[in-house]
Amino acid sequence: MMKIVNSINELRCHLAEDKQKGKRIGFVPTMGALHAGHLSLVNRCVSENDICVVSVFVNPTQFNNPNDLLTYPRTLENDCRLLESSGCNYVFAPTVEEMYPEPDTRVFDFGKVSQVMEGARRPGHFNGVAQIVSKLFYAVEPDVAYFGEKDFQQIAVIRAMVKQLDIPVEIVDCPIQREVDGLALSSRNTRLTPEQRQKAPVIARTLKESITFVPEKSVREVLDYVVSTINAVPEMEVEYFEIVDGNTLESIENWSDTSYPVGCITVYCGEVRLIDNIKY
Ligand code: PAJ
Repeated sequence: MMKIVNSINELRCHLAEDKQKGKRIGFVPTMGALHAGHLSLVNRCVSENDICVVSVFVNPTQFNNPNDLLTYPRTLENDCRLLESSGCNYVFAPTVEEMYPEPDTRVFDFGKVSQVMEGARRPGHFNGVAQIVSKLFYAVEPDVAYFGEKDFQQIAVIRAMVKQLDIPVEIVDCPIQREVDGLALSSRNTRLTPEQRQKAPVIARTLKESITFVPEKSVREVLDYVVSTINAVPEMEVEYFEIVDGNTLESIENWSDTSYPVGCITVYCGEVRLIDNIKY
């Protein structure tokens, strides 16, 4: 039977028993409104561990846009149903007061990985992510935690955090789950109008097509192609597209600059901000 737990203390009590029995604990942090992308992480966590803990918490400190926080979908009952059928053992669904009994004033510095791309456009976002994920790691003390490559930069920030704070947890990257037409699954997709929803797959389609240009076309040419192809679609506007070293997140100029080139993109589809990425 899956347990739904709201307090850190209660969660610690349950997990202390499991740990005493030598059980391996896997953890999947989420903000709920679960879809098949999240569930792919949960399934992997269930299959690779004795105990699977999933947190559902809409973390206020990582929202740089107050309206985004207010309108973030909250579907805990349905999330719990999905988690129960996935074989999750504990859902940790704390209140804001439970996670932040007092304001978290910690300011992290992870250097480049948290400053470029999303870091530059969403001030404070990754600091908030580091605040909550570190608190969750302290509460759960998992052996391993699962993150989706959909948020490619988030994984780099989490890895930097775990290293800096010396948190003994293994971080596992999980591949992006997509709709059949290629659109990366996201809770934000439901905000697209039917017309926008029809256009949005151009992002994944263009990224995929751009792989076939490498290495004949230069980095610059691939950048220009992707941006102009997506911008040519009405209502779509690329906020940024960068091709970076997948470890340092530094922009590359030539394909030979790294053995791990990744293209990271953010596109406005009307008002909806969509992110995606591709490995070259
Ligand atoms: P959230 O957006 O709910 O995502 C939870 C996890 O699911 C993240 O690791 C994310 O990368 C992964 N995910 C989302 N869509 C995915 C997809 N289409 N394919 C694969 N994985 C996908 O990311 C957060 O929450 C928060 O920042 C959090 C880490 C929970 C801290 O608050």
